[in-house]
Amino acid sequence: MRVDGIPTRTLWWENGVIRMIDQPKLPHRFVIVELPTWRETAVAIRDMTVRGAGAIGATGALGVAQAAVEAPEREFHTFVTAAANTLRSTRPTAQNLFAGIDYVLRAIEAEGDDIALAREAAVAAGNAFCDDDAESCRRIGELGAPIVTARPRVSTHCNAGWLAFVDWGSALSPIYAAARGGAMPFVFVDETRPRQQGSQLTAWELGQEGIAHAIIADNATGHYLKAGDIDMVIVGSDRIAANGDVANKIGTYTSALAARAAGVPFYVAAPTTTIASHTPTGADIPIEERSPDEVLYVWGWSDDGRFIRVRTAPASSTAKNPAFDVTPAELVTAIITERGIVPATVEGIRSVARG
Ligand code: MRU
Repeated sequence: MRVDGIPTRTLWWENGVIRMIDQPKLPHRFVIVELPTWRETAVAIRDMTVRGAGAIGATGALGVAQAAVEAPEREFHTFVTAAANTLRSTRPTAQNLFAGIDYVLRAIEAEGDDIALAREAAVAAGNAFCDDDAESCRRIGELGAPIVTARPRVSTHCNAGWLAFVDWGSALSPIYAAARGGAMPFVFVDETRPRQQGSQLTAWELGQEGIAHAIIADNATGHYLKAGDIDMVIVGSDRIAANGDVANKIGTYTSALAARAAGVPFYVAAPTTTIASHTPTGADIPIEERSPDEVLYVWGWSDDGRFIRVRTAPASSTAKNPAFDVTPAELVTAIITERGIVPATVEGIRSVARG
């Protein structure tokens, strides 16, 4: 996609260093950070410098590649395994993270005890995983564009755009493809409390692409659905269970319920790296619980250019902060993957799942 007209990816590999957009600084600052070691890469996933299922999957893959490059020859496999385990522990919900890490580990294992070849294979696999993510998302856009063209007033939650992947995005990709094909979509962007991925990232992305949109408070979605102002809802996913239940950013379930009540189709768009065939149902998906501070405080830029946090809640109050919820398969109209548009059923998921 483009930033100020210049083609850009969310993250990329450059001679052993991972370079990425510093997402918490958006939309007010566009900053590229450099991560020279796998340890810094793990921190960037944990502190959400990079976030979004596909983007953390790609970062995890490149993080293992960095570990393979850094590992001392004598303890190569022990070093890489320990690094992979730490990368795996950075965030619990998004399946893409585990898919990325395992993809590179398999490439390393295939080289046996030839360490030089294993290092090369790790770097090649990390980059291939990134390219695959970008291409899958491009294809999701192609397949989903006719749906958006027919239903141009779209609601989305969180950020499942190109910032959540290597390029293109999942839920936003069909919107971008439809617009490039001549459609005129209008997007209702849920603000997405508490971290505001909607108002800070999705709105910024849509603005860069010249797509008409309005940010709405999360609790306004039902109002617009009921009023008949929204033709379809499309969201991304962090993990899709084998039965078609879908984990996505907290608040997605509420949106799906409101869409069902209003008779509006509710689509999920995700690359097949999001499918967890070994996770039987949504009840088996681990839901990340994040710091209460994300609810009790807001972050923003002060007039004098400082990135500061401000407490909005009473000093004595505490908070609960689940980062994701699960939308049951029966509320999902269809899942748009790079391998086709399928029903959220065991058979539908199996027909596109990898491996
Ligand atoms: O906590 P985040 O920002 O990493 O959450 C991930 C997401 O961006 C969303 O849940 C998104 O809708 C699906 S991931 C493409």
